[in-house]
Amino acid sequence: MCGIVGYTGTNQAAPILLDGLGKLEYRGYDSAGIAIRNGEELAEVVKSTGKLRSLIEKTDSGRTLAGTCGIGHTRWATHGEPSQTNAHPHVSGNCSGSGSGQVESEVVGVHNGIIENYLELKEKLLRHGYQFYSDTDTEVVVKLIDYYYKKYKIGPVDAINRTLVRVRGTYALALMFRDYPGEIYAARKDAPMIIGITNGESYLASDVPALLNYTRNVYYIDNMQIARLLPGEVHFFDLNGDEVSLESTEITWDAKSAEKNGFEHFMIKEIYEQPDAVRDTLTSLIVDGRISLKDTGLDEDVLKSVSSFRIVACGSAWHVGMAAQYILEDMTGVPVRVELASEYRYRKILPQERELLIVISQSGETADSLAALRKAKDLGVRTLAVVNVVGSTIAREADHVLYTHAGPEIAVATTKAYSSQLIAMYCLAIQTAYDLGRIDDEKYAYYLSELNTIPEKIVRILEEKERIQWFAAKYSNARDIFYIGRGLDYAISLEGSLKAKEISYVHSEAYAAGELKHGTISLIEENVLVIGVLTQDDLFEKTVSNMVECKARGAYLMALTTYGNYNAEDSASFTVYVPKTDPHFMASLAVVPLQLLGYYIGVARGLDVDKPRNLAKSVTVE
Ligand code: F6R
Repeated sequence: MCGIVGYTGTNQAAPILLDGLGKLEYRGYDSAGIAIRNGEELAEVVKSTGKLRSLIEKTDSGRTLAGTCGIGHTRWATHGEPSQTNAHPHVSGNCSGSGSGQVESEVVGVHNGIIENYLELKEKLLRHGYQFYSDTDTEVVVKLIDYYYKKYKIGPVDAINRTLVRVRGTYALALMFRDYPGEIYAARKDAPMIIGITNGESYLASDVPALLNYTRNVYYIDNMQIARLLPGEVHFFDLNGDEVSLESTEITWDAKSAEKNGFEHFMIKEIYEQPDAVRDTLTSLIVDGRISLKDTGLDEDVLKSVSSFRIVACGSAWHVGMAAQYILEDMTGVPVRVELASEYRYRKILPQERELLIVISQSGETADSLAALRKAKDLGVRTLAVVNVVGSTIAREADHVLYTHAGPEIAVATTKAYSSQLIAMYCLAIQTAYDLGRIDDEKYAYYLSELNTIPEKIVRILEEKERIQWFAAKYSNARDIFYIGRGLDYAISLEGSLKAKEISYVHSEAYAAGELKHGTISLIEENVLVIGVLTQDDLFEKTVSNMVECKARGAYLMALTTYGNYNAEDSASFTVYVPKTDPHFMASLAVVPLQLLGYYIGVARGLDVDKPRNLAKSVTVE
């Protein structure tokens, strides 16, 4: 989704903004732009379509733009096609062309999100003589701020406040006012926005990686609050225009973790970071041989009282929920329901008494997951967020937060965050089972010792990546891939299939192996690749039978199983082995070859795997 950066200080702003936008490229975008103020002069706006590179070339890496204050944006089109005219920043002045150059204008702004009532607001502004050059909702907001600013002859904070109460939707806004050189104003509702302050410099960004090179001292601006940035200082205001104080937070991620560090893509780097991500998440949760959920506020009494779990999430995080369902139910005996957040938010919900709703989200900003969380809270349900980004909206709004420690995840396709989320869910399941008296000390210690072996086992799997790379190159032109499995293996299949389709654009499906016969087997023919996931020994033979049925219809079979299950080779033409661990935790190991497979098929097809088409890292609009 769109990225926002801002800077005001003593250095030339444009190179800093371009660097920040570069760090947000991973979010997905189709055009980019910056606006720079040089002292009292009008803002200079430069925009371009396509990759950030073209904006960098247009401005000679920012050198052609003098000025120490500015805002920048990468746009992921929502209202209006990707074009230079629709690219941000947008200006309040009436102008022809694309709103670039030095336009006579009171307000210049960038925006992330969607303004739902923009057409109605646009009509009002048209009646008041405003003209529009773009199709965007952003131009409408910028002009509405300008309208209130001039009509009531008020300052920027009041003009923004009047606008916020008129607009419906989600947004993060960064604005500059002609009469206030060296100042940036920011506001947000349900879209992320953070502010970093160092000596004499102030930074603004929609996501942490853009700030990591400059500062760790950040403020998370709240919904419907306004920030006024001056060089090295920031002031916050509420909707009444009264100044409020916010606490700053120290970010622990290091800048290197958001760089490729010699890897060809972020995705493969993050696949390789999984042993660390898993270890760091385990270390944060296991203290002196016991799981400690102290920081989450989930104590023994709360866990014992839970009558049912409901997990809501999107995409891969939902796949974690699917895996967790088998594990939680099996270990705790407490019923679990897993739902897509986008479905949960719009249907009638009959919450159970003492239900615990768990939202799983890497970014903590996914619009549907956030809406589901709020709905659950409105229904009086206790909520737990399993989140990677500290201070994100979901983390701040949930009753309890369990942080994963994956570090910054840059590749659009999640890998290390998925693996860390699994660990968090295992720990929750083990501790709940223990508190409920479903497992004894011996079993508890066994589970923890098995968990501690996972990082080393992932390292071993990664050591055999060449075989998968070879197989991926061979099958990179496959038309269809079916991933099949039963129980937990079905949940693993869901994630394997998503990794293939999102990165390599090869059509793939995940099926509960027993379900194939109920329709889908009609799609199996010569040259279709069928991958059987066989990590659960009690279901091994059942799934192998389903694989053999596919082979009889012409499919090429790959098996993914554990060392020791060598009879998989009797049926499959290609078999990948992973080390064994307790069956509950097998997703952590089996997913790794499937991530590698998706990655290498994408690479073999010559695709930009870090930025798959049409996808964005953090989906902050519905
Ligand atoms: C797939 C992927 C997405 C995310 C989903 C939820 O590789 O990354 O499916 O899992 O968009 O995102 P978060 O976890 O940020 O809520």
